Amino acid sequence: MSGAGDLLDRRLLVVTGKGGVGKTTVAAALATAAAAGGRRTLVCELDGTGDLAAAFGSGPVGYRGAELAPGVRVMEMDTEASLREYLRVQARLPVVGRLAPLARIFDFVATAAPGVREVLTIGKPAWEAHERHYDLVVVDATATGHVIGQLDAPAAIADLVRTGRLRQQLDWMIELLTDPRRTAAVVVATPEETPVLETVELLASLRGRVGVAVGALVATRVLPVPFTRAQEAVHAALADHLGKVAALTVDGVAVGPGVEGCWRVAGHLAARRRTQRSHLVELADAAGGAGVPLLFVGYEPDPDRVLDATVEALTAEAGW
Ligand SMILES: Nc1ncnc2c1ncn2[C@@H]1O[C@H](COP(=O)(O)OP(=O)(O)OP(=O)(O)O)[C@@H](O)[C@H]1O
Ligand SMILES: [Mg+2]
Repeated sequence: MSGAGDLLDRRLLVVTGKGGVGKTTVAAALATAAAAGGRRTLVCELDGTGDLAAAFGSGPVGYRGAELAPGVRVMEMDTEASLREYLRVQARLPVVGRLAPLARIFDFVATAAPGVREVLTIGKPAWEAHERHYDLVVVDATATGHVIGQLDAPAAIADLVRTGRLRQQLDWMIELLTDPRRTAAVVVATPEETPVLETVELLASLRGRVGVAVGALVATRVLPVPFTRAQEAVHAALADHLGKVAALTVDGVAVGPGVEGCWRVAGHLAARRRTQRSHLVELADAAGGAGVPLLFVGYEPDPDRVLDATVEALTAEAGW
């Protein structure tokens, strides 16, 4: 299995995984770590929720984007703005000022030809990486269901477009996306049943149908191991003596109920950690089978520390 030491030396990283698992946080953390290593970095949110900018403590930054941390430019995808830019920069059409009719034509074309919207979506970050406007472009991609369609779109449209300028553009896009030295997917999962299942399916689709290399799996919100084995034995033994614990006083103050509460919380945590453990083993198996490194990010209880904690964890895990 190769390590993740050179993950940030790619040109394009596509972060995906099940909804809500921590994709945006990991994308923000990868961009932050890359910039800390001196790379000019763009991180692009595809689903337009504004969560990415929020992870940096900012309001929405739109398609033009903003530098939200030293060396990190953050932008939000807008397919219409991407089309406008494409027509101006690539197709060199001068008439892009008059937008209303263009938007209608675009809607018509995008509805009739599946893949057009997807190509414009993935095309923008791919273009920024291709042109080397940045050392690294990180894509905060859509959840599992959509991402395959987006990554596969250039190849799907290339099947229909045999020659010409558009075909050339699709060709460099396909080359970039399927070149493991330049592009890698980063698949994020929490140690729970559905995210792990989706990760296994995603690994197969990315490598099979789409041909995008997977650079790393990230297991996030991993709970700490609460007990050593000896402590676990003590915890279990105390179960028969809770009555005595409840009556406990220290310097005349009744602390028993508090201690009993701690005992229960520790038990819940240990049980949840045991459940996580079996899913972590499945993730490790999937990673091992695919020859992909698995990186761990712990559960961070303080919402204001989630990004920093994720950067620290990934940096330590990957050895950046
Ligand atoms: N390691 C962590 N510990 C604790 N909370 C975390 C951790 N990582 C992410 N979170 C929190 O989990 C929530 C979801 O994270 P995030 O927005 O990154 O997920 P997502 O996969 O991008 O979601 P969506 O599918 O909605 O885009 C956020 O509130 C985030 O702060
Ligand atoms: Mg998100």
